[in-house]
Amino acid sequence: MPPKLSVNIDHVATLRQSRNTLYPDPVHAAVLCQLGGADGVTVHPREDRRHIQDRDVFILKQTLQVPLTLEMALTPAMVDFALQVKPFACTLVPEAREEKTTESGLMVKGREEKLQPLIQRLLDAGIFVSIFIDALEDQIAAAQSLGVHTVEIHTGPYALAQKPAEAQREFQIVRKMTEFASNLGLTANVGHGLHYQNTELIASLPAVAWVHTGHSIISHAVFVGLERAVREMKEVLSRSHLMH
Ligand code: PXP
Repeated sequence: MPPKLSVNIDHVATLRQSRNTLYPDPVHAAVLCQLGGADGVTVHPREDRRHIQDRDVFILKQTLQVPLTLEMALTPAMVDFALQVKPFACTLVPEAREEKTTESGLMVKGREEKLQPLIQRLLDAGIFVSIFIDALEDQIAAAQSLGVHTVEIHTGPYALAQKPAEAQREFQIVRKMTEFASNLGLTANVGHGLHYQNTELIASLPAVAWVHTGHSIISHAVFVGLERAVREMKEVLSRSHLMH
């Protein structure tokens, strides 16, 4: 089976908030993602609500027919919000106000005692918890010790590699870390910076369960429409499976 695809639709809300209009509506985007074959939809309500609004999240939860993932900072206020929404999954990310997008994985090692009570509240509510994490053994092992189900390995360094040798090196790190996570009993997802040219290799890794992609799909949709953009990424994932 090829990995599943969860489409991050934040950038639709970014466009809407740039003019404070009612359009384009991320809820409409989610419908088109489903028609294109998305296996899931992801949104990241940021603490400053710069793009996705609470209203988007509640309507998505009520109307989506595929799993909804909330990317979120691990703060008491965001945990309260997630418990109101009850998404399929929460992916915990670090959040800095000035950043354009999430810049690194959540640092877990050495902070377990601080993170545990908030994570436990999500787990107790029956929400799948994933941690967005750098491709490092000690961080992944620390995530597992917190009782989460999943880690999403940060593919940014692979995606940003300038030279083929560097990309190959980063790819091997992602490969090893997806296997390491899987051997610890964790589901291994991947995400960040993945586009139509660099995803096939990553998605061919047997341990990868879900691919989380946003910017490239929404960008491609500007030219070909969202349903087709999602379908084309699904085709990339299917091709990756033929590589085995
Ligand atoms: N996974 C996580 C945890 C992210 O924070 C993001 C960015 O919102 C993505 C995946 C998607 O990254 P991109 O937009 O580069 O595809």
